[in-house]
Amino acid sequence: MFPNPDAKPSPQVDELVHRLRHARSLFVLTGSGISSESGLPTFRGVGGLWRTHRVEELASPEGFARDPELVWTWYNERNAAHRKARPNAGHYALAQLEARSRDFTLATQNVDSLHLRAGSNNLLELHGSLRTARCTSCTQRRSLDSSGLPLDQIRHECGGLMRPDIVWFGEALPQDAWRRAADAAGRADVILVVGTSAVVYPAAALATHFAGGAYVAEINPEETAISDRVAYSWRARAAEALPALVAALET
Ligand code: APR
Repeated sequence: MFPNPDAKPSPQVDELVHRLRHARSLFVLTGSGISSESGLPTFRGVGGLWRTHRVEELASPEGFARDPELVWTWYNERNAAHRKARPNAGHYALAQLEARSRDFTLATQNVDSLHLRAGSNNLLELHGSLRTARCTSCTQRRSLDSSGLPLDQIRHECGGLMRPDIVWFGEALPQDAWRRAADAAGRADVILVVGTSAVVYPAAALATHFAGGAYVAEINPEETAISDRVAYSWRARAAEALPALVAALET
């Protein structure tokens, strides 16, 4: 039944396909692992960003206050890498899954905009995005292009500082996106958790605490913090497993 020669057919995969085929409501949570096959580093994996950089210096309000130029230099590099990267087969498969679903919500922890560029519509960016910058004082936003924010433009006309429009450690998630994600997880029949270590909260709670009675499946080549709490933990790469699921649903 399973079309993809690489991925070994298994009763669990067949069960997942069956559940997806009959789902009235589908919720998907993604992390940086889905973008690793687009050439972008994860955070905690081999060569991960938090292995090579000090998170408290770069991804906290305190670190930004201490050295905004250091922080912007790093986010401008990340922004440029995101813009050079391309969505992969995993991102596109989720856009296809959305197109064939009645009620589909995709919540991502990623700030790389690859889901958007792959054509996902009902997308919730729980940790913000690097498409805009926001003033720390008047909250005015401005769009960023591939070169990011010039360091001589960090000071805003109101006297505040322009900061990356993303969620740093210790900060609250955007309320509207969070509420909609929690609602969608609560009403879902099937939840897919793709490419996240599931150690960062509250996002990880969408796959467990908020998951109502849903059938929860995880797609990750490695074990995660929730592997023992999901119905099926599929050791696979996103760009392999997600297209295979879509292909199976179309047969
Ligand atoms: N397909 C699926 N999963 C993959 C792939 C792949 N090709 N490659 C790696 N992974 C998995 C890894 O095994 C790991 O479990 O992706 C996960 C990435 O985990 P982290 O590096 O912890 O990143 P993430 O879960 O996205 O981090 C969550 O933490 O640092 C903060 O705000 C940041 O949004 C981020 C949050």
